[in-house]
Amino acid sequence: MERVRCRRPFSWPGKGSGAFLNEPAAPEGERPDGSAAAGDDQRVISAELLSAVMPVIPDAAVVVDSSGRIVSANGQAEALFGYESGSLVGTPVEALVPERIRGRHRRHRRGFMAAPQVRPMGVGLQLTGRRFDSSQFPVDISLAPIVSEGEQLVVAAIRDVSAQRQAAAAQAALRRVATLVARGVPPEEVFATVTAEVGRLMDVDLVSMDRYDPDGKVTVLGAQPATLTSGWNIGGRNVSTLVFESGRPARIDDYSEASGPGAVPTREWGVRSAVGAPITIEGRLWGVMFIASRRERALPADTESRLADFTELVAMAIANAEAQTALTDSRARIVAAADAARRRIGRDLHDGAQQRLVSLTLQLRAAQAAAPPEAAELRALLDRVADGLTSVLGELVEFARGIHPAILTEGGLGPALQMLAGRSPIPVDLDVRIPGRLPEPLEVCTYYLASEALTNAAKHSQASAIAVEVTADDDVLRVRIRDNGVGGASFGTGSGLVGLKDRVETLGGRLVLQSKPGRGTTVGAELQLSGNGVA
Ligand SMILES: Nc1ncnc2c1ncn2[C@@H]1O[C@H](COP(=O)(O)OP(=O)(O)O)[C@@H](O)[C@H]1O
Ligand SMILES: [Mg+2]
Repeated sequence: MERVRCRRPFSWPGKGSGAFLNEPAAPEGERPDGSAAAGDDQRVISAELLSAVMPVIPDAAVVVDSSGRIVSANGQAEALFGYESGSLVGTPVEALVPERIRGRHRRHRRGFMAAPQVRPMGVGLQLTGRRFDSSQFPVDISLAPIVSEGEQLVVAAIRDVSAQRQAAAAQAALRRVATLVARGVPPEEVFATVTAEVGRLMDVDLVSMDRYDPDGKVTVLGAQPATLTSGWNIGGRNVSTLVFESGRPARIDDYSEASGPGAVPTREWGVRSAVGAPITIEGRLWGVMFIASRRERALPADTESRLADFTELVAMAIANAEAQTALTDSRARIVAAADAARRRIGRDLHDGAQQRLVSLTLQLRAAQAAAPPEAAELRALLDRVADGLTSVLGELVEFARGIHPAILTEGGLGPALQMLAGRSPIPVDLDVRIPGRLPEPLEVCTYYLASEALTNAAKHSQASAIAVEVTADDDVLRVRIRDNGVGGASFGTGSGLVGLKDRVETLGGRLVLQSKPGRGTTVGAELQLSGNGVA
């Protein structure tokens, strides 16, 4: 775009009228140029006053005539738009807006001149300014129509709002990431979002979220572009190594001086400058967030601190995930330890006390048979003791089953659930559709789910019917136990349902409890088959 130079020094028409602010221009309908009467916002202002005021307006300001020509500009306007001193005057004001919106701007300007009114700064419009070097920047503009020396003019004050826009965009991006972190989404999702947001926000060519591994390698966990090389060794002079060595943000403004394996992928991308910020989790250096630009101009000085806002959120997401994993692991250990103890007690009962009781009963029966026929009282006594022993044995078997059901280990879920259903005082409709045996953790988990839910129904629900459904398809094992009782079950009050939740979540599943008062109770769980021992 060619710059239009002012060929003739601008002279105010009818110079020296001595009109001042708020002084009426002329009686209504007697305007010297015959133009439409001024609106309420119109101000009449002398050329002298305008010339005196322009330089002291803190914002960039230009005065434009009705043909769209700049008739006055202050030094702030020349500086903001990159024009030489005095060179804006005479230039069409459209030179200050990008080519693509000049037509629209012209139409707006004409509309404005037809019905001029004051428009304050920052009223809704996303406006863009264009510097002499054709670079663009966001602006707020306020307009004030004036009449000076009988001519309809407009004063435009222009403010560069790049900083505010950037801050707002950064806040919005941080808010999006923070929302993800708060929702506890997996860190990989946070990494992907952060690299995308940072790439967009900072207008860089390369973003990489890297983890420092114990073997001295750097693993790329999220990157834009996604094809960035991973698994190279720390060393040499590159941003990731500098951050690794110092634990602090680092930058290289001229990447031609970079060296080491870390410099190779970035050089392949034609990177000129780069900045890295550490990802630190509870005082431990975990990784680095790295951004790089192909532009000649080095990344701005505030890049490090802007990156740090994001790395803090990333660190939070990783810490959350680590805590969650640690928690799941410890729950798994507790569940496994409890299961092992139950199994041991079950086995001890079976092999020890149960066997001894059986053999004692047999011995008693033998003694009974050996007793002389005339010792009727003794035989009757032995008979009662043997019956008592048999019933204790029955109770023990029942008890051992509750602790760890041998039938589950031997027969699998189908028979074990049938046994549970058979013992339930409330009739159970059992529907088991699974392909043979499942991995032990899934069988044990399902068994305890059914066992606890059936016991709960018997103890608390006053239900008249229970339905148990176990299905396995689409790689998901679904378990559902429904009663038609009083409802109102919750995790808070007992230990049974909470224990089930632990069990299910330990296997990566989800336990759902539906139990509105008066609407019965449903305990449901979904467990992934793959990852739990099923290929
Ligand atoms: N099927 C059900 N019907 C009605 N209330 C139930 C049912 N299951 C559980 N509850 C209620 O929820 C509470 C928590 O259950 P649970 O954790 O199994 O503890 P508890 O050891 O009391 O059985 C119970 O105390 C009971 O009040
Ligand atoms: Mg219970």
